[in-house]
Amino acid sequence: MDGNGRWAKKRALPRAVGHQRGVEAVRRLVRALEPMGLECLTLYAFSSENWKRPDEEVDDLMNLMRKFIKSDLPEFVEKGVKLKIIGDWQSLAPDIVAMLEDALAQTANGRQTLAVALNYGGQHEIARAAAKAASKGDVTIETITAELDTADLPPLDLLIRTSGEVRLSNFLLWQAAYAEMLFVDTLWPDFEPAHLEQALDDFARRERRYGGR
Ligand code: FPP
Repeated sequence: MDGNGRWAKKRALPRAVGHQRGVEAVRRLVRALEPMGLECLTLYAFSSENWKRPDEEVDDLMNLMRKFIKSDLPEFVEKGVKLKIIGDWQSLAPDIVAMLEDALAQTANGRQTLAVALNYGGQHEIARAAAKAASKGDVTIETITAELDTADLPPLDLLIRTSGEVRLSNFLLWQAAYAEMLFVDTLWPDFEPAHLEQALDDFARRERRYGGR
């Protein structure tokens, strides 16, 4: 979900406003999950490297998270959206951990999954999964995959990065092995369900060979 800062800067607004508008984009997409028939949408909300940002911005992002869960959880439950968190989220502030645990429990029976990556880093996730597989004495692609945070999610089909940057920034590195990728110039706060629909059309036209021919 890249481009919140640039969206705000273009309008001479504080970065925090860009992040607020970013949350509104999230809300629009969550509402579109069911009509689009999407099984799972994973959003990169806070990376393990985002702690390097100024304290004020980290606080803004954590507060947005608190507000978002509080305001949108009832709608998740009502609409059958199942929340899933990936990353080292248990080490976030205790009140956020408690809110997330409650949200996970309340949405456990949902049909569409909204996965949110919080304090997430792909390399870290792979290292943790490999260490777990090793502790069980069996290190293979399958056993590592089974220990990833995403083990209970469907395989990653399409990875979209907004705002014109063309890099993965430590997101779903293992899972992206055969994913299709799409890099769009749209800044995250401007990303609408119509952009996602367009991305899915693009995806549907691609031929996936998984190394075969
Ligand atoms: C990147 O934009 C965006 C982030 C680091 C945070 C994304 C978080 C949200 C949209 C809000 C919280 C999410 C939820 C699910 C409640 P940037 O700040 O790096 O933008 P820039 O590259 O233009 O500076």
